[in-house]
Amino acid sequence: SGPELAAVVAGASIDVPDFPKPGVVFKDLMPLFADGAVFRQVIDAIVTHHGAGSFDVVAGVEARGFVVAAAIAYATGTGVVPIRKAGKLPRKALSASYALEYGEATLEVHADAFVAGQRVLVVDDVLATGGTAAAAIDLVERAGGTVVGFSVLMELSFLDGRERLAPRPVHTLLTV
Ligand code: PRP
Repeated sequence: SGPELAAVVAGASIDVPDFPKPGVVFKDLMPLFADGAVFRQVIDAIVTHHGAGSFDVVAGVEARGFVVAAAIAYATGTGVVPIRKAGKLPRKALSASYALEYGEATLEVHADAFVAGQRVLVVDDVLATGGTAAAAIDLVERAGGTVVGFSVLMELSFLDGRERLAPRPVHTLLTV
């Protein structure tokens, strides 16, 4: 159930105070990835939510989104499209930049990553301000994909990422 899953995610993650800088509490999901039973449970829950067969490919955001995307893709017989940080992709790529507290970040995807109209599930580990997710969704659509869902394992609701992505629905297993 939803509350059980939320408890599983909460129990398998670790709060790290003052990382990567003072005042920020970092949500470390690596223990969740490292626990085989928990990892399978959360991946299966995301697949069940959207329905296997409702998407053709899974786009994951560097770096922890890759882990989530690959597992969902393998479980559903779909493929993975990595959305990378700037400068990593070898061929023609589309870029999307977004503001950080200080400065700017850029994500990229290969221009030919999707067949036109291909149904894309976009995933990441955590939704915070939503800047990363908004850029990732923008990239998928500009590359010709149709975003049919967006999932994260954990949403930090006080940073209002959900509002930034509205009216697109956000699926999360845990809201803190
Ligand atoms: C984290 C997280 C999301 C993003 C969420 O990634 O994995 O991708 O931040 O933040 P936002 O909603 O405020 O944009 P990070 O930048 O730490 O990259 P990493 O996974 O490569 O370490």
